[in-house]
Amino acid sequence: MTAQIRIAPSILAADFARLGEQIKAADQAGADLIHVDVMDGRFVPNLSFGALVVEAARRSTQLPLDVHLMILEPDHLLKDFADAGASSMTVHVEACPHLHRTLQNIRSLGCKAGVALNPHTPASAISEVIHLLDEIIVMSVNPGFGGQSFLPEVLPKTAQLRQMITASGREIALEIDGGVHTGTALQCVEAGADVLIAGSAVFSSKFSVAEGVKALRESVANKKPV
Ligand code: DX5
Ligand code: ZN
Repeated sequence: MTAQIRIAPSILAADFARLGEQIKAADQAGADLIHVDVMDGRFVPNLSFGALVVEAARRSTQLPLDVHLMILEPDHLLKDFADAGASSMTVHVEACPHLHRTLQNIRSLGCKAGVALNPHTPASAISEVIHLLDEIIVMSVNPGFGGQSFLPEVLPKTAQLRQMITASGREIALEIDGGVHTGTALQCVEAGADVLIAGSAVFSSKFSVAEGVKALRESVANKKPV
């Protein structure tokens, strides 16, 4: 199978009264992962949901659940998310004083491990833990809310991370999160991202989930991961 850019709809933008239905629609539309945004009201200003919603998502699809933990010192919650069915857990480098240990903990729970970088955090922040990573999320907005505008200044950092991944020889997904839509997706892929996380570009009252996924895919058509 030819590798292609993967699309990860973020359920933060979904209609929670119909969550299972919306996840199934994303699955049927050809989404590759389901992105699940967990927010604690401390690391980020907003609160979202916890392991219960991960568990509900797990019952709605067989797709990998890409759990993005925007929470301070997440260690005490990792097992709950793993038990709820997370496939991968990504923590913020800015929220983890013992990042190395946290990543080891995630791996020991049988999940893929990832690190997310806020817009101000340099690529070098992951250099000493790259051997523990399965994915990196480049935040292209300041985390906490859906529907924000894409910050193009993270693109050079994305390219730098792609070079670091290539040099490491490891298979690490390079995901970009925030403000990704048909007008910004191509630049993300050209910078080296191979997973597009998208909330409001997929879940909207203006178009169907299938239309959202299709438009996003078409906007990067013929582009292969670097
Ligand atoms: C932001 C979250 C994103 C969010 C993206 O803090 O991490 O995953 O859902 O939403 P959009 O695609 O609408 O910017
Ligand atoms: Zn996210």
